[in-house]
This record gives sequence, structure tokens and C-alpha cells, in this order.
Amino acid sequence: MGYAIAQALLRRGARVKLISAPSALLPPSGSEFFPVETAQEMAEAMDKALKGASALVMAAAVADYRPIEVSSRKIKKNGENLCLELVPNPDLLASFRGDYLRVGFAAESEELLPNAEKKRLRKNLDLIVANDITRSDSGFDRDTNKVFFLDAGGSEELPVLTKQEVAERLVDRLTSLLRAKA
Ligand code: CTP
Repeated sequence: MGYAIAQALLRRGARVKLISAPSALLPPSGSEFFPVETAQEMAEAMDKALKGASALVMAAAVADYRPIEVSSRKIKKNGENLCLELVPNPDLLASFRGDYLRVGFAAESEELLPNAEKKRLRKNLDLIVANDITRSDSGFDRDTNKVFFLDAGGSEELPVLTKQEVAERLVDRLTSLLRAKA
């Protein structure tokens, strides 16, 4: 979804910085690409990329937790259960605030609209794209998506669309939010 949004923004003439974890997709030509592997690296890239930005669109499925320690050696088995202790990662979208529009995604498996609206309010977002990840035509590793857009004015249901089409509709929304802000 992030790559499709970057592409749609480039087509409209925006300057695009794409921050991405490893992916089989090629960064669209014309974008400035920031490859990252961890949530910490993503935070550092966001810090740099957001200087002078007018909008942040956060489609990344950032890991909510990371292992408390990382072993430099192979962990040998001993026949017992293995418990990994995980500590919470910071919520990047919630913590990056500034004079730019902030758009997030909400991946939900139940109570789609109430949960997405709670996220929008908690992270103080201008817009949130709500995604029911239990649907076979939506979410990870699919080319289509069925989403709702939620902003302070209410919610809009979109039909099942390709990720490119969702990206185009999102860029339309973003453009009108930027105009309203100006
Ligand atoms: N997000 C983020 N940093 C995290 C986790 C999520 O910036 N550590 C962003 C995602 O990129 C997305 C939004 O927050 O734009 C919502 O992510 P989602 O996974 O739907 O929800 P969470 O906030 O992680 O809440 P929960 O997992 O409890 O549903």
C-alpha cells in the first residue's frame, strides 16, 4: 500500500520520500528511498525525512514489540519450551507530531469502525484508513483492498479496489485536506 501511495503522489508531482522495510517491490523512480530494517531505524529515517514535509502517510505494519535482548550467537535447543521476552516498541505515528498532515492506517479484525475511530483520536490523525484484515480481498499480500476513510467529518466506505485505486483516492483526500489547511 505504501509503494502504491508513493507512486500516486509522484504522478501528481509531489516530492516523495519512501521509508520501507525489505520488500520485493522496487521503489518507484523519482522517490527518495530510505531502506530500514527495524522500528528504531524507521524512527531515525522519519526524523530526517519529515524536515520540511507537508504530510506523513504511515502504511507500515510496524512491529508492536521487539525481543528484550538479541543473541549474537545461535540459541541451542535444549528440549524445553523457549520463552522470548518482548518489550513494546514506541508507536511511531503517535509520537511524530509537527506542522504536517498525519495519515494512518488501522488494521482491525473486529469492530472495524469504532476501533479505527479510537485510533484516529488517540493518535490525533487528520485521516485514518480502516482496513478489515479478516477479508480475503484486503490487507497483507493482496493486490486489492476494501477500506473506509475516517476523518473529523465522518466515514466514507469505498468499494473493493486495487491498491493503486485506493492510493489515488487517498491522494485526492490528502490534496483536499492540504487545501483546507492552506
Ligand atoms: N504504527 C506505528 N508504530 C507502531 C505501530 C503502529 O507508527 N509501533 C502505525 C501504523 O503504521 C498505522 C497505525 O499506527 O498507521 C495503526 O497501526 P495498527 O497496527 O492498526 O494499530 P496499533 O496502533 O499498533 O494498535 P493495535 O495493534 O493495538 O491494534
